[in-house]
Amino acid sequence: MVLQAIRYSRGSLQILDQLKLPHEEVYRDIWTVQDAWDAIHSMQVRGAPAIAIVAALSIAACVARCNKSGADPALLGPDMTGAGLISHNLQILLTSRPTAVNLADAVRKLEKVVWQVQQQPGSTDYSINEAYIQAAEQMLVDDIRDNENIGNHGADWILRHTGTVFPAGKLSVLTHCNTGSLATAGYGTALGVIRSLHSRGYVKRAYYTETRPYNQGSRLTGYELMHDNIPSQMITDSMAGALLGLKREAENINCIIVGADRVAANGDTANKIGTYALAILAKWHSVKFIVAAPRTTIDLNTASGQDITIEERRSHEVTTMRGPAVQRSKDGSLIVGGSVHEIAIAADHHGAWNPAFDVTCHALIDAIVTEKGVVEKDENGEFHFEKLFAD
Ligand code: MRU
Repeated sequence: MVLQAIRYSRGSLQILDQLKLPHEEVYRDIWTVQDAWDAIHSMQVRGAPAIAIVAALSIAACVARCNKSGADPALLGPDMTGAGLISHNLQILLTSRPTAVNLADAVRKLEKVVWQVQQQPGSTDYSINEAYIQAAEQMLVDDIRDNENIGNHGADWILRHTGTVFPAGKLSVLTHCNTGSLATAGYGTALGVIRSLHSRGYVKRAYYTETRPYNQGSRLTGYELMHDNIPSQMITDSMAGALLGLKREAENINCIIVGADRVAANGDTANKIGTYALAILAKWHSVKFIVAAPRTTIDLNTASGQDITIEERRSHEVTTMRGPAVQRSKDGSLIVGGSVHEIAIAADHHGAWNPAFDVTCHALIDAIVTEKGVVEKDENGEFHFEKLFAD
């Protein structure tokens, strides 16, 4: 069964609530644009590509209902119609989370589509809505295809660059956060590369970090790796240095592969908090450090990582944890599955710093894998992305 984070059909959108995974599988209706904003802001849906697609499809579902039965109260901006109404709602959704650029890229492209149709003689609200729906639906289709290409390019590159160092034809990788089917329309970016390596029989073990504070690794990546029967093991974020420092062949990490929320024009990369520390560890241990992301994550208008806005979230996400109650059986083994609780894990519930992302300098990145191919630095240590956008 394919893991489906986004369920869409004309006029209807549902998301798998990622705050409840892996203990509960609950699909939520995204009926209004406000529902979409709330789901993105609260991180019921998260991951740069998934955020953009859910935002785009939430409006598509509303305008499809408009085209069927007149006005739809699920859109915000009741006195507006056509391109203006769609643009107004896109701009509202753009405020839901600031760091991932995929949403801004989708908004720009979708606004262009509707304004172009509006310029055509004889255009109506109906034809504008129809063009919007088709463009938003295409994003869902394109994302899966792009991720499969990222997976294949990334796997080829890793095999070429680590082939001489991994023993017995298998390699171990380390990843961070969740970049799989749950973070995208399907297959995933960094996790897509791991899927591609696994489908070719090359994965000895995929290690994944817990990814504090919201545990996208332990809750979501672990769930996806188990779902696909990929040999895997979780570590806490603070164990990565020790893992890379092991000299035992069994755990030898051949490369670290992560996703991205925004890649600046010079290759500096914003990704889940903790990525930067992993990149420094990779450099110290001479392990390849790879970023996998679609072209929609590359932002040529942002010169460097210093220009990226890093979202800071509320401290309670750091000072609390959610999960089902656990009981111990007589033999000491754990029985998980009681009702879900939120518990406090800190003395001070107000003072924690909670940046959702950090920036990894391009100097620490060996390659950036996109659906169009892999970009490496030139002899001066600089990335060039222009060729990726030539078509
Ligand atoms: O805060 P999140 O869970 O939305 O952060 C997600 C990440 O940092 C991912 O690595 C990134 O969005 C790439 S997902 C393909």
